[in-house]
Amino acid sequence: MNAIINVNGQVLGPHEAKVSIFDRGYLYGDSLYEVARSYGAQFYLLDQHLDRLKRSAELCKMKLDQDSATYKREIYKTLEAFRALPGNSERDAYMRLIVSRGSGKIGFSLSAIQTPTLYTIIVQSLDGMIPQRSAQRPPEGIKVRISPRIRMDRRALDPAMKSGNYLNSLLAYLDAAENGFDDALLCDYEGNLTEGTTFNLFYVRREIVATPPLENGILVGVTRSKVLEIAKDLGIQVREVRFPRERLFEADEVFLTSSLKEVLPIVQIDGRKIGDGNTGPITQKLQYAYRQKITQDTQRSLL
Ligand SMILES: Cc1ncc(COP(=O)(O)O)c(C=O)c1O
Repeated sequence: MNAIINVNGQVLGPHEAKVSIFDRGYLYGDSLYEVARSYGAQFYLLDQHLDRLKRSAELCKMKLDQDSATYKREIYKTLEAFRALPGNSERDAYMRLIVSRGSGKIGFSLSAIQTPTLYTIIVQSLDGMIPQRSAQRPPEGIKVRISPRIRMDRRALDPAMKSGNYLNSLLAYLDAAENGFDDALLCDYEGNLTEGTTFNLFYVRREIVATPPLENGILVGVTRSKVLEIAKDLGIQVREVRFPRERLFEADEVFLTSSLKEVLPIVQIDGRKIGDGNTGPITQKLQYAYRQKITQDTQRSLL
């Protein structure tokens, strides 16, 4: 396995790393996480991911035992070990930082819950985790369904908190995959679109870009924020608005954003083609501009 693991500061091979069976992440999904991607020797927008981790910790009443500077140092230490493995010096990497509330006793007493947090970092090859692309050919669009399963309500478990409990997304994905779709979108209990299982959602109509607002109960995507910023810089009109599923079928273009998938077209929803079924011009423009921004910020040429 092409991976390096860091457990509370100790850098290990994937088979040496161990976490207790009493870890609360394992027992209760009582953990937080972040995923970022490296381009060359640099993770893109890592500070924004670490800021989100802090906000997740507040939402989850978890007192982190390390600060962002420590996480950042350890993440780069792990990346360095990964890049030192044979054949990895030019390889981009996937990084997952997981912070669990630690291990104590089973149960909900305060003494069981208030334990030191445990962090683990996985840096591994991106192989098979990102859409296929070549320098000349951007990745092809995906086909999704609108899940019959609703997104968790903010009052139950706020999707703005990136917790280790991802069953809502995972089950929506499984339902979709079993029915032949690439992935799924989820609505809130009122029928408004929120986001995808592991990505944020956008549509384009009459050259205006729209995306569900944060109040709808979504993850505050790091890529979402960057793409909104880029669109504004390009002079494209953007709106954060609530919208029902029907709106997507009237859209000229639909696309998704995430740290791993970047900007990726959605070309079919519930078996219905979006636009002419190909990547639309505004999606293409944003795909290109996002890659241009990464190239500028990481000095890794992607274009
Ligand atoms: C539910 C959900 N929404 C959106 C995103 C995209 O977030 P980001 O752009 O920060 O990767 C993710 C990423 O994992 C996610 O899990």
